[in-house]
Amino acid sequence: METVIKELSAVVSDAFERCGYDRSLGSVIVSNRPDLCHYQCDGAFRGAKAYGKAPLAIASEVAELLKGNPVFAEAAAAAPGFINLTLSDEKITAYINEMISAENAGIPKAEKKETVIIDYGGANIAKPLHVGHLRPHIIGEALKRLMRLLGYNVIGDVHLGDWGLQMGLVIAELSERYPEYSCFSDGYREGDALPEITAEALNEIYPYASQKSKTDPAFNEKAHRITFELQQGKAGYVAVWKLIRRVSVNDFKESYRRLNVDFDLWYGESDADRYVGEAISILREKGLLCEDGGAQIVSVSEEGDKAQIPPAIIIKSDGAINYQTTDIATILQRKLDFSPDKIWYVVDKRQELHFTQVFRVSKKAGIAEEKTELAHLSFGTMNGADGKPYKTREGGVMRLSELLDNAASAAMEKMKDSDYAAEGDIKKAAEKIGVAAIKFGDMINQMSKDYVFDLDKFLSFEGKTGTYILYTITRINSILKKAEDSVSGKLVAGIYSQAERSLMLRLIQTADAFWAAARDKAMNYVCENAYQIAAAFSMFYHDNHILSEADINKRASWLNLCRFVRSLLILHMDVLGIETVEAM
Ligand code: ARG
Repeated sequence: METVIKELSAVVSDAFERCGYDRSLGSVIVSNRPDLCHYQCDGAFRGAKAYGKAPLAIASEVAELLKGNPVFAEAAAAAPGFINLTLSDEKITAYINEMISAENAGIPKAEKKETVIIDYGGANIAKPLHVGHLRPHIIGEALKRLMRLLGYNVIGDVHLGDWGLQMGLVIAELSERYPEYSCFSDGYREGDALPEITAEALNEIYPYASQKSKTDPAFNEKAHRITFELQQGKAGYVAVWKLIRRVSVNDFKESYRRLNVDFDLWYGESDADRYVGEAISILREKGLLCEDGGAQIVSVSEEGDKAQIPPAIIIKSDGAINYQTTDIATILQRKLDFSPDKIWYVVDKRQELHFTQVFRVSKKAGIAEEKTELAHLSFGTMNGADGKPYKTREGGVMRLSELLDNAASAAMEKMKDSDYAAEGDIKKAAEKIGVAAIKFGDMINQMSKDYVFDLDKFLSFEGKTGTYILYTITRINSILKKAEDSVSGKLVAGIYSQAERSLMLRLIQTADAFWAAARDKAMNYVCENAYQIAAAFSMFYHDNHILSEADINKRASWLNLCRFVRSLLILHMDVLGIETVEAM
């Protein structure tokens, strides 16, 4: 299947061509004036100058040709030069029926199965996940699912921060608490016992060690030395490091399970280490590396830069490598392993400069292939009601698990108030509703903007909320349950009311909305489309008495429409990484 816009654009482009105009003028968009028409084409304005004609004259000629086409109930030129297109009921019904029969609602797949690596998550080993980790995980997971649905070969990489100073700090502190273990000395032999380390312990140790390093210079120096020796491969440190990594990742996985987030690759900065040497050699061979006060740098400023872009520091004056170096080496690793067409980084907007430097160095050096799109998909901050980054009541950084707990208990409260008791395990349902509220509340916003985290609003049964979408699905569940015996065929028979037409017009926009979301890397389009469908469904349900309808054809058609709305909403939620509930 083609998307509606593609299909209509082809029809209108043919008409432009038959009238002697360039076919590129025939692109169609969803109508800006739904009161007048369903779709529109503004090509006549673009052609006016080239053909020396008034837009309205061109539009009229083209509209005249379109009039006989059964796709349209109406095709009309409108001053000063629009072409207004109203689909025929037959076309709308046929398109819906095609969607019903097709896999994934007929959303077309990419012509080329390009490889897309999505780098999201980016949590740091030995530190607990906190609210700041919410956005990359939520958005990255959804983008991964969207691109996969659209037929791309998508690889989600967690890219853990597992190689920096925080590792040295934690190991240094452990070595002081457990000096008796051989892993902290030169005498370590493989298989020697290691201290017992739990996630809770790590959560206490990291902040403690970090604080200590600020006031205790000897400890600070020790942590730096351990970091260096770990990176050189000292066996005892590597053994504890592996243990810490394992404990920490298992702890992350618990939150990931709750958030419905998963990764294809569990790589980290440490995995890029093997590629650092080669990356640096490439930079040297290409003559890009310069010495600057003992450090090795690559200059990246370009003509036309509005602000000065400082050089990337590849090797620091103390011989250590940088965050930039690791990311450049990771690009090399990804090129060698996957030859990706796109690498997308879902990372906080405060890292913009970092990615500008990394991308420029990688492109200049040919470490990233010519064809590879490198994009930083930067997101804004999640704020509290005061407009400042979201905090606990005491003003601290909130753990992610605590945020999820809060959302689940708030959802539970809400369900008590509503007339709908969850079937089965109410706690499980509350957990899902809480996560749905958080995820939808995040992704409905334009990604680059800051937004206010307002659990109350996100859990509302009205408006653009995850709760509203889940609730709509549960309403349809209950309609279908009541009508079970009479849900017959798979198709919709026709259009019997205006509210039904409006609903169907919403449904057929889905493929275009998904493709636009992929083009603009904007999951809010998918949220918006889900909301518009749910809202149109409410109107339809309000206006038509489905279950008591006497005309059995009409009733069957409506029930099939209900069933399709449900599956399409579930598809939206699935792409957003949101699980749905049976009842509310
Ligand atoms: N661990 C990093 C941080 O906490 C984020 C990693 C983002 N991804 C990347 N490839 N740099 O800031």
